[in-house]
Amino acid sequence: MAKIGVFYGSTSGHTAKAAQTISELLGANHEVTIVNMEDISSIDDLLEYDNLALGSSTWGQGDLQNDWRDPYAEMDEADFSGKTVALFGAGDSDKHGEHFASALGVLYDKIVQRGAKVVGEVNAEDYRFKSSLALRGGKFVGLAIDEINEPDKTKTRIEAWVKAIDGAFA
Ligand SMILES: Cc1cc2nc3c(=O)[nH]c(=O)nc-3n(C[C@H](O)[C@H](O)[C@H](O)COP(=O)(O)O)c2cc1C
Repeated sequence: MAKIGVFYGSTSGHTAKAAQTISELLGANHEVTIVNMEDISSIDDLLEYDNLALGSSTWGQGDLQNDWRDPYAEMDEADFSGKTVALFGAGDSDKHGEHFASALGVLYDKIVQRGAKVVGEVNAEDYRFKSSLALRGGKFVGLAIDEINEPDKTKTRIEAWVKAIDGAFA
């Protein structure tokens, strides 16, 4: 059983709902704490955990959700070495298909640069979109969900993803 922090930023509730489901599923085998990014004091709140699931929806043109803005800047001074991190977040693959779920890629680049090991990549073949900053070698760096166009796929996607990452947390 690992101690996992699930931290999410969500404006209209989609990533929040996913975070809830992810926490419940991970909670079967691990001790999970779920935190809304609007409630953290600083990046130090995240650094208390060696295992993290970080969620952000994508806004603007491929930007992080608003509550990630200050913590993201603080990451430049943070040490994520030794940490196992999984990434997830909501996007809109149709209307915003040129930047679909790009926030995952923004977080990925930063935490990898700061030493984290990222788990939970997802095959992109199940999605239809134009481009995304979250792609590495044809795969998403984490779990993208689309509650606008494909809400019926969310539950299956989350369940498969949690199953894949569950054993990576120790
Ligand atoms: C102004 C605006 C900009 C957006 N930009 C993007 C984007 O660049 N990429 C994307 O995948 N989704 C984009 N979206 C869609 C949101 O990410 C989507 O609605 C998501 O479900 C919101 O999740 P949340 O409720 O967790 O914040 C945008 C939505 C709005 C209204």
